[in-house]
Amino acid sequence: MRISVIGCGYVGLVTGTGLAEAGHQVICTDNDPERIAALKSGVVPIYEPHLDTMLAENRRAQKLSFTSDAGEAVREGEAIFICVGTPPLETGEADLSAIDNVARLIAAEACESKLIVEKSTVPAQTGQQLKRTLEVYRRNAGVEFRVASNPEFLREGTAVEDFLHPDRVIIGVEDETSEKQLREIYRPILERRFHCPVHLSGCPSTQSPALVVTTINSAELIKHASNSFLAMKISYANMIADMCEKVGANIQEVTHAMGLDPRIGPRFLEAGLGFGGFCLPKDVQAFIQLAERSGVDSGMLKEAERVNRRRIDLFLEKIRQSLWVVKDKQVGVLGLAFKANTDDIRFAPSLEIIRRLLAEGAQVRAYDQEAMDRTSAILPHVRYSREPYEVADGADALLILTEWQEFRQLDWARIYSTMGRPLVIDGRNLLNPGAMLDLGFEYYSFGRPIEALTQHLIPSLDSGASARASA
Ligand code: UDX
Repeated sequence: MRISVIGCGYVGLVTGTGLAEAGHQVICTDNDPERIAALKSGVVPIYEPHLDTMLAENRRAQKLSFTSDAGEAVREGEAIFICVGTPPLETGEADLSAIDNVARLIAAEACESKLIVEKSTVPAQTGQQLKRTLEVYRRNAGVEFRVASNPEFLREGTAVEDFLHPDRVIIGVEDETSEKQLREIYRPILERRFHCPVHLSGCPSTQSPALVVTTINSAELIKHASNSFLAMKISYANMIADMCEKVGANIQEVTHAMGLDPRIGPRFLEAGLGFGGFCLPKDVQAFIQLAERSGVDSGMLKEAERVNRRRIDLFLEKIRQSLWVVKDKQVGVLGLAFKANTDDIRFAPSLEIIRRLLAEGAQVRAYDQEAMDRTSAILPHVRYSREPYEVADGADALLILTEWQEFRQLDWARIYSTMGRPLVIDGRNLLNPGAMLDLGFEYYSFGRPIEALTQHLIPSLDSGASARASA
């Protein structure tokens, strides 16, 4: 099919490239002419594994093109995917102005009937508003707009793989034609016709994705309900980690055992600095606002948010407890991105932690293999190093704020010998406490007090063994 994608951010670029890879004819547009110019010259403005090569291949095959003429993009596609940002307003409500602008643009420019697919994350009932706007601003007679919801479940760092190998495809529709078109659009993906790039966690899921056909409201709600559940799971694990520190238990052994119950599952129980990124924080806020507007008690969601916000305070307490005076101390920071395998620093805990350390007079040096350019634009008073060992050299403390695998493989014996004080505070429980203590470090993390360090490593902690080996 001929498909238009409006919005060339994380979601739009992966969606457009993935749909081209699936065999469709895709044209993408964005209201930032520089971004379109970059894309036309083959520059991909975000770091997302496999995106650049897949985008280049599909451009060469003329399955994927970019234009800054939004009208052209609207007229090209039989289906138009709306992939614009819905950032939080001051109130926490989702800012839907970009959706509104795009709806009015489509209504004005469309000369033939279209399927309008809401891919952006929006509160339930947005689709109803979208339908009204398209109708009210429709300029050409005889043009019919059919609206559908098709929420994305792309994780940054594995977004290309998540698009081509999803667990499930959700489509919210109100008519058979829309359902048929979306089945057609996703057929190559549903039939798993891809040899997908290797999954960053080692093995792509093998079973075919489930297709869920539902209403627009339910499809919109599934997205917020899913992301908010993930956020609650993380905050729950962080509360258990705090409990472990008080009673002398090991969070990784507790969550490993919990996860053996298939009703709980092992994923998203990693304690640490909590959830950042441009999705979970804003989706929880938007869901709280929707609940409040609907007169539903959102206390559970607010608690998840409150627990998450406290992670940074607790981490800074660990720094003060070990470092004592922060002023004039040299603090090394490993990791800036909100999570590994991305360059995205939106809502990253590292930003707030560094701001508070600078405010207390610390000298901060930082390294992140992908996110330094973005961070240096907003935190100019940090010294950025091109390699991690420099950050540790002479430092009074070394903080791990992002779980990059690269930090696990560092030569920690070498780091021990170059630090001013061998103090490591690990915000992502990335390293193995036993290995670090064996090397002579003062080592702190979340939920793994010294008295709870057992000798027998459980399977999921094998990485700890490799850290012990590499250290
Ligand atoms: C998330 C959802 O996973 C995805 O389905 C949705 O489409 C977009 O939002 P993303 O924000 O890219 O994806 O990253 P994710 O892997 O979910 O991590 C979100 C945050 O939670 C990160 O800051 C990560 O460090 C943190 N996290 C994740 C934990 O603190 N503990 C965990 O166990 C897992």
